[in-house]
Amino acid sequence: MANIWLDDAQARANAEIVALVDLDRKAAEQKVKERNLEVPVYTDLSLAIQETKATLVFDVTIPAAHKQVVSTALQSGCHVFGEKPMAESLTDADAIIQLTEATGKQYSVMQNRRYLKEIRTLQHLIDQQQLGDIHTLNVDFYLAPHFGGFREQMDHPLLVDMAIHTFDQARFLSQSNAVSVYCHAYNPTESWYEGKAAAVCIFEMENGAVFTYRGSWAAEGLRTSWNGDWRVIGTRGTATWDGFEQLEMETVQDANASSFFRDVQRQQVSNTWNGREQHHGCLDEMFTALESNRKAETDCHDNIHSLRMVFAAIESAKTNKKVYL
Ligand SMILES: NC(=O)c1ccc[n+]([C@@H]2O[C@H](COP(=O)([O-])OP(=O)(O)OC[C@H]3O[C@@H](n4cnc5c(N)ncnc54)[C@H](O)[C@@H]3O)[C@@H](O)[C@H]2O)c1
Repeated sequence: MANIWLDDAQARANAEIVALVDLDRKAAEQKVKERNLEVPVYTDLSLAIQETKATLVFDVTIPAAHKQVVSTALQSGCHVFGEKPMAESLTDADAIIQLTEATGKQYSVMQNRRYLKEIRTLQHLIDQQQLGDIHTLNVDFYLAPHFGGFREQMDHPLLVDMAIHTFDQARFLSQSNAVSVYCHAYNPTESWYEGKAAAVCIFEMENGAVFTYRGSWAAEGLRTSWNGDWRVIGTRGTATWDGFEQLEMETVQDANASSFFRDVQRQQVSNTWNGREQHHGCLDEMFTALESNRKAETDCHDNIHSLRMVFAAIESAKTNKKVYL
């Protein structure tokens, strides 16, 4: 993951890489070599900040390290742009938010899957009321990645390490936070994960919409996109997005017609967003926000609402009960 962040920083006129930090010194040295960087390598973040006078830390460490890395960076006077999830627990995430307030520094979280032309276009057409009032969002997410490493040891790898993207996309599309969830999490037979690699969740959103999520990281065959396969239904019609480039919409022509099925019209959906995509788009927003002294779209104060969905889903899965956020 670090490579995309380094690509972005190396290409950016308003940023300069001053050091690489990794607990594993050899990993950082290897990156310096691969990328022809002429910067020092550290294993201690606070020392790195002190000696290089860095003002911004990119946190691309594993989820278990995020709280410690982000806290150290904020306390050392840096802003932080970090990989999702912002922390491994809500208590840690709340503590980080308090620290941003105490230090006056910003912490923005990578939610690259909001920065795709199809999802920006879909959100725009929802915002323009082209589907009427949105009441249903469904997504299917089925993949079978064999990562090895930390994900295969996590209790809830799909919910903690991946579903945050999809839950965040649902918040972005509906422009609404979740109020409750019922979740059943399970580990499919012969799964190569130790924890629960699959889940089905039903969320109710503040605006009354229902968002359903069916996902698995142990589903061989007929893979969906990493963005999931979406259906969004409103009072005037439906849009589908396959998570790749296929974005379609059908809306009712005459809502007062007396026919059994109302006539619908397939609408051409044209792209309405011209920003950069994925990590680069999210980093553009983070840098612009920092330079404009405003909070980024994925600032930690916003991102906590996506993280709350993750932890509420896990609590529901553990207790077999609907959980209110
Ligand atoms: N946004 C995305 O699409 C996306 C995709 C993949 C991974 N990620 C996220 O990126 C993060 C990293 O994932 P990865 O797969 O690249 O992990 P990785 O295990 O490949 O790399 C993590 C690196 O962090 C180092 N590290 C661990 N603890 C540290 C600490 N306390 N201080 C300094 N360095 C430390 C490790 O030595 C390792 O070099 C995770 O939070 C993951 O969820 C995001």
